Amino acid sequence: DVSNNADNMALDASAKTSLQSFVATEEWFQKPLVVVVIGASGDLARKKTYPSLFELYQHGLLPKETMIWGYARTAKTHLEFRDHLHPHLTPGQIPTSSKKLKDFLELCYYHNGKSYGDNEAYAAMLGEITGMDTFNAKDANVLYYLAIPPNVFAETVATLEGMPNAVVQGKTRFVIEKPFGRDTASCQALLDGFKGLGEEMQFRLDHYLAKPMVENLATLRMANPFLENMWNHEHVESVHIRFKEPFGTQGRGGYFDQYNIIRDVLQNHLLQVLLLVAMELPSSLFDSAGDESDSFRQAKIEVLERMPPIVLEDALLGQYDGYKDDPTIKNKDTNCPTYAALRCFVNSKRWKGVPFILEAGKALDQKVVDVQVKFKNRHPFPSNMVTIEVQPKPSMTMTAHMKPLGGASGTMDVTTTNLTTDYSFDGSDDILSKPIENAYSRLLLDVLRGHQNNFVRSDELVRSWEVFTPLLHQIERDNIQPVMYEYGSSGPSSRPAFMDEMVQANM
Ligand code: NDP
Ligand code: BG6
Repeated sequence: DVSNNADNMALDASAKTSLQSFVATEEWFQKPLVVVVIGASGDLARKKTYPSLFELYQHGLLPKETMIWGYARTAKTHLEFRDHLHPHLTPGQIPTSSKKLKDFLELCYYHNGKSYGDNEAYAAMLGEITGMDTFNAKDANVLYYLAIPPNVFAETVATLEGMPNAVVQGKTRFVIEKPFGRDTASCQALLDGFKGLGEEMQFRLDHYLAKPMVENLATLRMANPFLENMWNHEHVESVHIRFKEPFGTQGRGGYFDQYNIIRDVLQNHLLQVLLLVAMELPSSLFDSAGDESDSFRQAKIEVLERMPPIVLEDALLGQYDGYKDDPTIKNKDTNCPTYAALRCFVNSKRWKGVPFILEAGKALDQKVVDVQVKFKNRHPFPSNMVTIEVQPKPSMTMTAHMKPLGGASGTMDVTTTNLTTDYSFDGSDDILSKPIENAYSRLLLDVLRGHQNNFVRSDELVRSWEVFTPLLHQIERDNIQPVMYEYGSSGPSSRPAFMDEMVQANM
C-alpha cells in the first residue's frame, strides 16, 4: 500500500518526521557505522558524498556512533582533510549551524596509501579504526563508497574484499558509481570482478533514480487513473526525454572523451527515466511481509527485454564548437558526441510503435531535464501534452484546450492553456524543517537501510548496455562524425528535421 510509505512519497514536514521515526526503529541505526570514502580527495567526494553525509547527520539520520574515513593517494593529515572539506559544507552550500559543522568534521578522518590496491595502507587504516577506545568497531556496519575513476574499481574491490573479516563483523556494503563499464563486455567483466561481494552488498548508484520527480513517476501513474489509462500506444504519439546542460565538459574532458554523452547520460540517467515511464506498474512496492520487494527492478527489466538495440539511422550526434579546445582532451581529432538524440522503441503490448526519443547535450541553450508525453490529437483539435519536469523546477504541466473566451459561437477554435502543479518544497529555508530532497542523501540513506530498489541490478545493467553497445561500437569502428553545433545553441541545426522525421515515420 503506497500510502503507508510516506518516507518515499510526501513533501511535507510530517514526512520527514515519519522518515526519522522509521529509521530510529531499524536495527542498523542502533549499531556503530564506519563509512569509508575511497577517492576522498576527489571531485565527487567533496561535491556530493560528504555534503550528503553531512545532510543525513544534521537530520539525525546517522547512527549515534558514526565515523567517516576518507582514503586516497594524496597525503593529508586528518586536520588538513577537514580543512579541505570545510568550504563545501559551509552556509551557502548547506545552511547549518557552525556547531553542527564542527561536530560533523570531528567524525571525519583521513588515511592515504600508495595506490587503491595498497593492502598495507588499508590494513593500517582499519587498524586505526579498531584501535580507537571510544568506538566499538567490532560490531560496526561498514560502507565503502567508491568515489574513484572506473579504471581502479577492480583493484580496490579485490583488495578490500581480501581484508581480514575479524576487523568488523557487521555488514559490509559497497556503493559503486557510474559508469559501470563502457559496453556490454566491459560491464560484464566489472560485474565478474565484483562477484565475490554478493549482489545484495553492491549498490550501483544512478543518482537520477532519487531525484524527487523521478521517484514520483510511479506514484503519478499509480495514483492518477486519468494518466495511467491513457499511458499506452492507443493514446500516446511519442515520448521525449530531454537533458540539456548550458555548460561544456569543464575540465572533465579527459573522462568525457573516453565515454561521450551516450555513456555519460543516456545509457544510465535517461534510460532509467524511460524505464520508469514505460514499465508495467507493479501491484505493490512492498512484499506481503511489508519489506521492500524487487518488483520495481523486475518491471524495469521487462521493459529492457523488449527494447531492440538502437540503430545509427535513429541517431543524431553532435559536438559543440570549442569542445576540442579543452586542454584535458588529448585527441584533437576526436569524434566524441557531446550531444545525442536517439530513437528507441519498447516492443510491448502497451508501447508498440511509440517512439521514445532520448536527447541529451552539453553546452546547450538552457538547463532542463524533462519528460514530454505527447498524446494523439482528436481531430480537428491539437494534441495534448503532459510535461513532467525533473529539474530545475520539479513540476507537471498539462495542456488543456478551451474555447477562446468571448470567441464567436459555432466555431471550433481553441486556445491552449497550461495546468501546472509545482512539486517543490515551499516552506521555510531552515534545513531541518525541509524534507530530504537531495538525491545523493536519499540514496545513501537507502544503502544504510539496505534498500536496493533504487539501485541498478546487475542483469538490468547488462541488458541496458545491450541496447546501446552496437551503436557505440559502430560510432567508434566507423569513425562516425558528429554534426557541429554552436556553444549555447539548441543543438545541431538539423535537429528539428530529425525530430519530425523520428516521430512522423511512425504515425
Ligand atoms: P576524480 O577524477 O576527482 O577522482 C577521484 C580521486 O581518485 C582523485 O582525487 C584521485 O585521488 C583519484 N584518481 C584520479 N584519477 C586516478 C587514476 N587515473 N588512477 C588512480 N586514482 C585516480 O573523479 P570524480 O570524483 O569526479 O569521480 C569519481 C567517480 O564518480 C567516477 O567513477 C565518476 O565517473 C563518478 N561520478 C562523478 C560525478 C561528479 O560529479 N564528479 C558525477 C557522477 C559520477 P588521489 O590522487 O588522491 O588518489
Ligand atoms: C553526471 C554526469 O552523472 O550527471 C555529468 O557525469 C552530468 O556529465 C551530471 O553533468 C548531471 O547531473 P545533475 O544532477 O546535475 O543533473
